[in-house]
Amino acid sequence: MSDDVQNKIEKATKLLHAGIKEEENGHKDKAKEYYLVAYRVMLEAANDSPSDLKKKRLDQCALILNAYKRVSGERTDFTVKKQNDDEIVEGEALLEEIGIEKPEIPKVTFEDVAGLDDVKNEILGKIIYPMKFKELSQEYNIQFGGGMLLYGPPGTGKTFIVKAIANEVKARFINVNPSTLYSEWFGVFEKNISKLFRAASLLSPAIIFFDEIDALVPKRDTSNSDAAKRGVAQLLNEVGGINSQKNKNIFIIAATNNPWEVDEAMLRPGRFDIKIYVPPPDIVARKKIFQLNLAKIKQVGNVDYDLLAEETEGYSGADIEFICKKAAQNVFMEAVKTGKSRPVETRDVIDVIGSIKPSIDYELLEKYSKYGSAF
Ligand SMILES: Nc1ncnc2c1ncn2[C@@H]1O[C@H](COP(=O)(O)OP(=O)(O)OP(=O)(O)O)[C@@H](O)[C@H]1O
Ligand SMILES: [Mg+2]
Repeated sequence: MSDDVQNKIEKATKLLHAGIKEEENGHKDKAKEYYLVAYRVMLEAANDSPSDLKKKRLDQCALILNAYKRVSGERTDFTVKKQNDDEIVEGEALLEEIGIEKPEIPKVTFEDVAGLDDVKNEILGKIIYPMKFKELSQEYNIQFGGGMLLYGPPGTGKTFIVKAIANEVKARFINVNPSTLYSEWFGVFEKNISKLFRAASLLSPAIIFFDEIDALVPKRDTSNSDAAKRGVAQLLNEVGGINSQKNKNIFIIAATNNPWEVDEAMLRPGRFDIKIYVPPPDIVARKKIFQLNLAKIKQVGNVDYDLLAEETEGYSGADIEFICKKAAQNVFMEAVKTGKSRPVETRDVIDVIGSIKPSIDYELLEKYSKYGSAF
């Protein structure tokens, strides 16, 4: 393919994405402009293409034009159906039976998640856009859904980002803790799993989030009971079933700190086949996490955020959240004692940083990088 055509296709794709972004933010007029230019550029690329590729590119033009028509108010195809109340009551009751709290649509948004741009892009492309633009994604043969495994060091925002996904797609967040599902009693573990998936379909759109998946489905060779084996078989079945029914509006996301301890059968195609590494925050993300957390405190001085970010290499987002809370607590205690309130300053935060160790070390990062390079 000539460079010129390739450049045009790339440009059109970027414009299309910019349009999608504007549309998402409710800026229909801007979105319309982007779609129209994307269409023109793609049309030029199509016209410059050899005949065997021309048809394909013209099809893409037609799709962009559809997006243009959609924002022009011709029709939309991503409204979430309204659930009827009976289904919700039944779904919540099933979850209660298996010790899972009533699922809500979380308040956390993508804006609250600092850094992790690659992770966000991957999630946008694989979950959020395909869900919001269902028809468009089908026309590009983009597979919708699929199980996703997030892995990485503790406290880096895995649970947090899944909540943000649920918020973005307006799905209920079903938080599954392995200990509530598991049971040694004959048949109970399998039954619990069936109840969970039945509840999710009643409550859809929903995200089933399996935290600490390595505890629920550990590698089979590690002394598993019969109950555990049957439960895992059931889970594999259900996950495979959901992933093959693309219209169910149920996403399955799992998280772990120890991906190497997860049963490999769980990671095969059709199950948790999208694996995403969630790294510790870099310096820019750390700065933002400090800003986000200190913004929750009314009494804040003129804090040097760059310095705080520099001083916290190896600290996770959860560490930083803890540091901010501790600094505020210290100043609060001081105010109680002295009877004088004062703002939290840079040095208060630095003092706390000096008193706690970072939770992420080089050795651990090496382990993830080795794991990730195997696929
Ligand atoms: N990238 C981030 N941006 C903003 N806040 C973050 C980020 N990472 C972590 N945090 C903060 O740390 C808290 C803990 O993060 P979270 O529970 O999502 O970590 P996790 O990766 O799920 O950890 P674990 O592996 O221990 O379950 C969050 O509630 C959030 O306040
Ligand atoms: Mg977590």
